[in-house]
Amino acid sequence: MPLPQWIETLSVGVPLMDLQHRTMIDMLNRLGLSLETGTQAMIEQGLNDLIDYAQFHFETEERLMLACNYPDFAEHQAEHRQLLDDIQTLRRRSGNTTTTRTEIIDILTKWAMRHIIGKDLAYRPYVVGHPFAEG
Ligand SMILES: [Fe+2]
Ligand SMILES: [Fe+2]
Repeated sequence: MPLPQWIETLSVGVPLMDLQHRTMIDMLNRLGLSLETGTQAMIEQGLNDLIDYAQFHFETEERLMLACNYPDFAEHQAEHRQLLDDIQTLRRRSGNTTTTRTEIIDILTKWAMRHIIGKDLAYRPYVVGHPFAEG
């Protein structure tokens, strides 16, 4: 699977959220590079950075959805928790040989893109133009 790229159709209509999604995708690309040529320490660092940033992004996004009374908030928040669990499990497994480096980046690309396309884009109509999203 090729590395993920941010394209305009991924826009959720809120510049701050788009910027955070782009940052996560950039981090995935850097991690992809480490997975090809980097040391185990670089990979672990990349995974830790991604976990920290994902946590920060999910919190920002949850505040936005709450402020805009997004009706599927609970389900979306539950998926964020699942995503954090999944990436933490992957980090634990990253040092052993059963998960190859190619598998790690494939899993994470799907991890990020499926969520943005399947879940984040769904809140777009509820947040675009909302004063909280503008500020
Ligand atoms: Fe989300
Ligand atoms: Fe998001």
